[in-house]
Amino acid sequence: MVDLLSLQKHFILQHLKEGDVAVDFTMGNGNDTLFLSKTVGKEGRVYAFDIQESALASTQTRLKEADAPENYTLICASHHRVKEFVTEPIKAGMFNLGYLPGSNRKQVTTMRETTLPAVMAAVELLSADGILLIAVYPGHEEGRLEGEMLLAHFKEYDRRHICVSCFRIVNSPTSPFFFIVEKK
Ligand SMILES: C[S@@+](CC[C@H](N)C(=O)[O-])C[C@H]1O[C@@H](n2cnc3c(N)ncnc32)[C@H](O)[C@@H]1O
Repeated sequence: MVDLLSLQKHFILQHLKEGDVAVDFTMGNGNDTLFLSKTVGKEGRVYAFDIQESALASTQTRLKEADAPENYTLICASHHRVKEFVTEPIKAGMFNLGYLPGSNRKQVTTMRETTLPAVMAAVELLSADGILLIAVYPGHEEGRLEGEMLLAHFKEYDRRHICVSCFRIVNSPTSPFFFIVEKK
């Protein structure tokens, strides 16, 4: 079976290098924040967002335990407010939509009304040769609707400026899938 997580990293690493700026739009337990932090190194910068204080606490612990470079800023705010906190162009952004796996607070999930403005702001912040990775979880209703909304949105982009691909297991419609947004 295809390993979604390692594939995402493969695409990010085609664009993101040491010294770059990256954003984790859905921090959760900090797995993606750690990956971004280690990839950009001590000369780079990572901003990470979540609306749950508990996510910031577990991410802080994870980064310390993994000896991540001190290049990160953890922000307790909805990702659609990204431009209030990030004012420089970004080379990569990761969205891992949905709710925290294993959490008993499944109602704290990403929602279409904030996901769309967050994705639009992320696209605006992307530098040339930048990439966004957006993982969608259609196994729950809001996730399925987020996926449909994003597909309709991305179809409108001018491919001369922004290329959007979708990686999906076609014979497993409820499995997670992801969009790759690349700015030329
Ligand atoms: C699937 S989890 C992310 C997993 C994470 N990337 C990791 O490595 O552990 C989704 C996260 O998005 C967060 N979230 C939900 N709505 C959000 C919003 N509007 N802005 C930022 N984060 C949000 C949830 O609190 C949850 O922690």
